[in-house]
Amino acid sequence: MADVQLNGVAKAYGDIKIFQGIDLHIRDGEFMVFVGPSGCGKSTLLRSIAGLEEITGGELRIGGRVVNEVPPAERGIAMVFQSYALYPHMNLFDNMAFGLKLAKVPKAEIETAVRHAAKILHIEHLLDRKPKDLSGGQRQRVAIGRAIVQKPDVFLFDEPLSNLDAALRVRMRYEFAKLHEDLKTTMVYVTHDQVEAMTLADRIVVLSAGRIEQVGTPLELYEHPDNLFVAGFIGSPKMNFIEGEIIGADAGHALIRLSTGAQIKALVNGSTVKPGDKVTLGIRPEHFVVGGSENILQSTVTFVESLGSATHAYCAFPGVEDALTCEFDGRTKIRAGDVLSLSLPAEACYVFDAQGQALRRQGWGQA
Ligand SMILES: Nc1ncnc2c1ncn2[C@@H]1O[C@H](COP(=O)(O)OP(=O)(O)OP(=O)(O)O)[C@@H](O)[C@H]1O
Ligand SMILES: [Mg+2]
Repeated sequence: MADVQLNGVAKAYGDIKIFQGIDLHIRDGEFMVFVGPSGCGKSTLLRSIAGLEEITGGELRIGGRVVNEVPPAERGIAMVFQSYALYPHMNLFDNMAFGLKLAKVPKAEIETAVRHAAKILHIEHLLDRKPKDLSGGQRQRVAIGRAIVQKPDVFLFDEPLSNLDAALRVRMRYEFAKLHEDLKTTMVYVTHDQVEAMTLADRIVVLSAGRIEQVGTPLELYEHPDNLFVAGFIGSPKMNFIEGEIIGADAGHALIRLSTGAQIKALVNGSTVKPGDKVTLGIRPEHFVVGGSENILQSTVTFVESLGSATHAYCAFPGVEDALTCEFDGRTKIRAGDVLSLSLPAEACYVFDAQGQALRRQGWGQA
């Protein structure tokens, strides 16, 4: 067991700076998830922790020990990649035992470790098989098993489920949650999947272009995104944004004239803005209410997607360029061309100042 501390960690390839000055403390036993757009540096950061990439600045500590100069094999970490990278000519047992054999661990100990990992992962009956005779999910389990037998202080996972089909991902997501519960080992997990991030993480790190935008629990990020980037990144379908201008504000609310012409009230701390300031209103698709009595906006439905459990309606608002996404109960009967009177509950609204920084929500979002 170990914590991971990054102090001003930087990485560059020649002149190309991938990230600079990353400060982050991953607590002992924590399940930390990295998310961010493609190319923002998630894998590079993970590989830097693993020691597969050399950092070009700052200090990295694992379990209190500075590991900047420590080779990967001596960092107490085990990493699982998206591509399982199994040895095709070895059976599962040998695939999992390989690292321990190299480390000259006694045979009986290897036997116990491999059988224990196989039991946790429900692949005991497959130990004689070669990787080619397995399904994708089973191969991924072997890759995880190979990490477990090393009894690392920290697990590093880089999109471990992205090669699996949807049903298997759900099942493996559950297995990861159980694995963490059983082992209680520190885990750092990179994913593109919103649901994986929200359900697995103790805390999520949102990265963009090599910078940390925010670190927080899944619900903190959902309820209180620090800025427009995090607001737009966390949540699926994405949060909608409408430009507007402050008409009046105090510590408990902001009155905003939207580009649609409508005037709406948002329950946010408006003590840092004044009339005339440009702001952006954020409203999550799931927070629009058909009918309702406050903050009414008229819109025309342009397109409808029925998902069964939910209905997504793309709605055009006057003065707003792109259609906004509204999510309703799956039984809602809506068709393209319908004119909807939508209300935005004042406590559901998010407001961002001209710099994109969030005004603190005062209603629902009270953590
Ligand atoms: N050897 C290299 N030389 C120069 N740039 C590199 C090198 N390896 C990676 N990069 C760049 O570093 C940036 C971060 O890459 P990284 O693989 O960490 O992104 P990521 O967040 O994991 O993306 P994805 O979600 O697509 O996996 C990218 O812009 C990439 O092009
Ligand atoms: Mg990556």
